[in-house]
Amino acid sequence: MTELTDQKQSALAAIKASPTLDALEEQRVAALGKKGWVSLALKTLGQMGPDERKEAAPAIQAVRGEVAEAIEAKKAKLEASALEAQLAAETIDLTLPAPEQPKGSIHPVSQVMDELAEIFADLGFSVATGPEIEDDWHNFTALNMDESHPARAMHDTFYFPDKASDGASMLLRTHTSPVQIRSMKEQGAPIRLIAPGRVYRSDSDATHTPMFHQVEGLVVDEDIHLGHLKWTLETFFKAFFEREDIVLRLRPSYFPFTEPSVEVDVGYSNEGDRRVVGGHGDDDGHDWMELGGSGMVNRRVLEFAGIDADKYQGFAFGLGIDRIAMLKYGMNDLRAFFDGDPRWLAHYGFSPFDQPTLSAGVGVRP
Ligand code: PHE
Repeated sequence: MTELTDQKQSALAAIKASPTLDALEEQRVAALGKKGWVSLALKTLGQMGPDERKEAAPAIQAVRGEVAEAIEAKKAKLEASALEAQLAAETIDLTLPAPEQPKGSIHPVSQVMDELAEIFADLGFSVATGPEIEDDWHNFTALNMDESHPARAMHDTFYFPDKASDGASMLLRTHTSPVQIRSMKEQGAPIRLIAPGRVYRSDSDATHTPMFHQVEGLVVDEDIHLGHLKWTLETFFKAFFEREDIVLRLRPSYFPFTEPSVEVDVGYSNEGDRRVVGGHGDDDGHDWMELGGSGMVNRRVLEFAGIDADKYQGFAFGLGIDRIAMLKYGMNDLRAFFDGDPRWLAHYGFSPFDQPTLSAGVGVRP
């Protein structure tokens, strides 16, 4: 019995001193496990006489109870402090600098293209595309500029040195108008589309770069007239600039592929070094900015594209995307658009989360 008491005392001390749950488990096995000293003590009961057993059994059971209780208590303590330690280890120090933000932004040209698609989709236009490496026929001939047409010279075209296998001269498209031809040939009439994209001309100064962006618009249907063109452009510009006081000026002009042809100017005022659209041009601090060309599709073009020009009429326009982006977002040098300077992009770029929508406003300022 005194041996049992000694064993109990040292077990209780060891349990109390167990630093970890694993150490405690070792103590449990040593005492209460199959071959533990308590279990062995219980086994001795079998060899005892009835009187001795009567005395010993409750004593051993009491020791067992005490040891088991001590283990449970220590276990609860160790688990509580393990949780404490875990919580302490997982705290966040809010005074530390934030993790590095992902860099990168949406270029204003991409943003404006998304705005265009959003606004014109609402007017029932789909978005069409065509190749930037174009053949002579789609870029010029089918647009009523045959080989001797003087307008060809105005396009400062980049030609490729080699001809295509079918003998066609290949070039970088000088405007998005060839997409008119490709789309009409593919889809026929009626048709209602915009075609945004890159175009190329050998030209460079503060407002011209050898590569720039245009958006073509084309509507072909029965009974289309100049009024539809004017309404469409006005409605678009009001939505795009998000103001009602947009004043457009349509100036008689000439393009081989439209007849009549009009150039589209928008009134703006100089406010400090910023140009702000709105109001009439040609008075105090006001002026007109040319945004593009337009007109009624020349019936020769409809014929080239295989459309019955007696049944269908259409209007078309071509706007400079970079120009309308500059006007809306206040940049004054076009060349900076294509420098790829991360500081310019950080300033003028848009968050990928700023998706232009008509309900939220098409132009979310950076
Ligand atoms: N393609 C013409 C240009 O680049 C613009 C335009 C398009 C004019 C459609 C009229 C109709 O200058």
